[in-house]
Amino acid sequence: MYWRLEQERAWSGLCVVPYKLADHPMALPLLEKNLVENASKTGPMVHEPLEWVNTAHVEQLLAADEDGFELVVLADCVHWPELFEPLVSTLASLVTSPETQCLMAYEERNAKTEAEFFAMLRAGDKFVVRRLEESEMDPRFYADDIHVFSITRPAVG
Ligand SMILES: C[S@@+](CC[C@H](N)C(=O)[O-])C[C@H]1O[C@@H](n2cnc3c(N)ncnc32)[C@H](O)[C@@H]1O
Repeated sequence: MYWRLEQERAWSGLCVVPYKLADHPMALPLLEKNLVENASKTGPMVHEPLEWVNTAHVEQLLAADEDGFELVVLADCVHWPELFEPLVSTLASLVTSPETQCLMAYEERNAKTEAEFFAMLRAGDKFVVRRLEESEMDPRFYADDIHVFSITRPAVG
């Protein structure tokens, strides 16, 4: 889903399944506009504010899904170094067990800076982080500078 939306530059931010879109409060008017324009393709979608540093937002997202999310998808969120830690911490709150699959796409803009994000993500072995191979992606939308990562919690035991 994120490929189509991201390629049309209609959406960035975070989505969890059961379907719920979340983005920074400033981005919600654009998100709402896109939901209205794409309603015939997406069906009903719930959206909520999510500022990564805001624990109330994270708790509100989690509240409706006691068993944890099946899938967390985020696109084009690795950008500002000062937000790397809030984003890692938000992912730690949303990807709560090995049963939650997280897929993260981003456009490589500054590999050296972005490496700091991945170091934070991998620190302490809290996540298993794997870059998807080209063969795993839809060739219609593959691009050399767009990377997709699988982020999961390590299996227990
Ligand atoms: C690099 S921008 C995405 C730009 C967009 N894909 C484009 O091509 O125009 C990074 C995105 O991360 C999200 N974001 C940034 N800071 C955030 C924060 N503090 N909390 C939640 N989301 C944030 C927003 O969705 C923002 O649009």
